[in-house]
Amino acid sequence: MQFIDLQTQYKSYQAEVDARMRAVLTHGQFIMGPEIAELEAALATYAGVKHALSVASGTDSLEIALRALDIGPGDEVITVPFTWISSAEVIGLVGARPVFVDIEPETYNLDISRLEQAITPRTKAIMPVSLFGQMPDYDRINALGAQHGIPVIEDGAQSFGATQRGRRSCGVTLIGSTSFFPAKPLGCYGDGGALFTSDDALADKMRAIRNHGGLKRHHHPLLGMNGRFDTLQAAVLLAKLPHFDWEVAERARIGARYSQRLRSVCAVPAIAPGNTHVYAQYTVRAPNRDLVAAQLKAQGIPTAVYYPKCLHEQPVFAACGYQLGDFPVSEKASVEVLSLPMHPFLTEPDQDRIVQAFIAAVTAEK
Ligand SMILES: Cc1ncc(COP(=O)(O)O)c(C=O)c1O
Repeated sequence: MQFIDLQTQYKSYQAEVDARMRAVLTHGQFIMGPEIAELEAALATYAGVKHALSVASGTDSLEIALRALDIGPGDEVITVPFTWISSAEVIGLVGARPVFVDIEPETYNLDISRLEQAITPRTKAIMPVSLFGQMPDYDRINALGAQHGIPVIEDGAQSFGATQRGRRSCGVTLIGSTSFFPAKPLGCYGDGGALFTSDDALADKMRAIRNHGGLKRHHHPLLGMNGRFDTLQAAVLLAKLPHFDWEVAERARIGARYSQRLRSVCAVPAIAPGNTHVYAQYTVRAPNRDLVAAQLKAQGIPTAVYYPKCLHEQPVFAACGYQLGDFPVSEKASVEVLSLPMHPFLTEPDQDRIVQAFIAAVTAEK
């Protein structure tokens, strides 16, 4: 059994993926080939925004967003401490300081009731994460941002395909960002990501930053980077996109089936009102998680821990001056969470085996 089964996915779509990749090999436009524009149009339509820009990774996309907003030394950007390193890494990369706000225990997303007290005159962006595949309440976050004149960027690396009151992740804030890392809900076969906005000027600026700071050859008005998405990877996503709605529905169905069976033995993912969840990770709490994980592993069932350490505990952010105890909800989550196998091709017998093994392990350890 695999934690995320990309081989079965490839076999299911092989004819389309191979044909799309062969077309790129044949026309030979490997950098910014025609598949890039085709994919970007499809992504913009999907997210309900005017512009989608494909980029080299979900980390580059966040950095480009911050650079486009002219965020740099002396500035602060608010995010959460319970997330993947990229969410705060990019803040440091542009020379700004990450300011962490603790999460809610049920959804693992930013605790909006603590957001306003973290805003200072130096705050230049609020960059919440839509962790594990569902969004924090962006109506409330956007309203607070607007009240203080601070732009909001959604780190939707894990939530592409999720909705909030009918609107899609990456289409609800000034800038949305996602990742196409292979294990993400919409993954390619390498690194990749995308930016989303309906602001024409910002879209142009982000396009320029993605391409060494300029849109015309040998003309570089901005400090940019090589942040372009690979045309072969765009071909992979174009082959996978027609199946994405089915995959999102399967993830939701499998997540609901897990939760129905596990609810009586552990804290299962809570879905906030108005949200759908794409379960980039299906994450439960098990206070004795190392023992539980070991028991599952002995039965051939893989699990994973996202995230065993909060970002304020990481040496790279020591200079920010945070201490253990500053973010108790995140810290508790980091020692309790355990993610179970989750992908659209997980069979019902495998789901049942996972559920039974998990229940046996948790109850034995109580
Ligand atoms: C919350 C979050 N932000 C950013 C990223 C960065 O994406 P990438 O791995 O494509 O650079 C990831 C993915 O790993 C992520 O989970």
